[in-house]
Amino acid sequence: MKPLQTPKNPCFSSGPCAKRPGWSLDALQGAALGRSHRAKIGKAKLAEVIDRSKKLLGMPADYVLGIVPASDTGAIEMAMFSLLGERGVDMLAWESFGSGWVADVKNQLKIADLRTFKADYGKIPDLTQVDWKRDVVFTWNGTTSGVKAPNGDWIAADREGLSICDATSAVFAMEMPWDKLDVVTYSWQKVLGGEGAHGMIALSPRAIKRLETYASPRPLPKIFQMTKGGKLIGGIFEGETINTPSMLCVEDALDGLKWAESAGGLAGLIARSEANLKVVEDWVAASAWAGFLAEDKAIRSNTSICLKIVDPAYTALSADDQAKHAKTLVSLLDKEGAAFDIGAYRDAPVGLRIWGGATVETSDMQALMPWLDWAYAEVKAKF
Ligand SMILES: Cc1ncc(COP(=O)(O)O)c(C=O)c1O
Repeated sequence: MKPLQTPKNPCFSSGPCAKRPGWSLDALQGAALGRSHRAKIGKAKLAEVIDRSKKLLGMPADYVLGIVPASDTGAIEMAMFSLLGERGVDMLAWESFGSGWVADVKNQLKIADLRTFKADYGKIPDLTQVDWKRDVVFTWNGTTSGVKAPNGDWIAADREGLSICDATSAVFAMEMPWDKLDVVTYSWQKVLGGEGAHGMIALSPRAIKRLETYASPRPLPKIFQMTKGGKLIGGIFEGETINTPSMLCVEDALDGLKWAESAGGLAGLIARSEANLKVVEDWVAASAWAGFLAEDKAIRSNTSICLKIVDPAYTALSADDQAKHAKTLVSLLDKEGAAFDIGAYRDAPVGLRIWGGATVETSDMQALMPWLDWAYAEVKAKF
């Protein structure tokens, strides 16, 4: 039987993610459109994004946070291009984005003293292998595998290298051990449901020191440059962006931050996301056909919730047929307006990926579960 109730908001994409509950274009009314981002009004809005974000995330006062071009990719690449090469590098990867950073450090930055620790989808590498005398680059939450770092205990408090963390699908949904993280990057389009194109980069005092004492041996395009004459360009971290941002996106980011504050701040956001995961966990526990890609609960993401189909009747099918049926399941849900964009990432194992970040209402997650069963039954009838 087709479920009677569809999720009010069927947006479960892992980026851009659902807008916050109640969002409409009216939220952008106050945007400083047609104004210079360097005018007092524009700069104040950019600075407000930085200030509210730092406060909401509980970032230490001596960290700086800047708005940079090219979304999270721009932010993490500018960090790697600017900082790496001073010492050996350990790279950790447990899905496609982390693997992409490994490839860039190897092939573009050509770091010779490079060690790589990779794990298959659903797993995490042995974190005790990391040598904290070296710089370490990793992705906190692997968006395409649904695997997150379990905590920050494995990061040495007395590290000599820098910890450089792509946290784009983790911040605002998971506790971040700021004192263990020297560089943290993310974008607006994830947990707070903002728009694409703008990245954020947080730097610890140790990361700033590296920037000011180590001259990257490689050419740095203007949009990667964070220092001038050996000094941090402080303005970047006060709202003087390197190049022109979208003031419409800035207004939207502010709207997301204000909503987050009203939703109980960081603790409220984390609770909302964990409640979403709990709905899926309870459903999986009773399901005869679905399982988590991340079987270990300690590393299971509460934002990008990745599922595999474990029904023996399905796993006995050829890889092509499995992919075909999973695609049909996803498009059935799309057609019914029950869930948009919940297919597994193109490089990940076949299955489903359901975003459970804070902007997703738990009642919508609850409403989605019977639809998954309905869609699977429809698909299975055609095996
Ligand atoms: C872990 C991770 N890193 C990087 C990116 C790229 O982000 P952006 O497209 O915002 O640059 C994504 C996007 O989904 C991601 O999930």
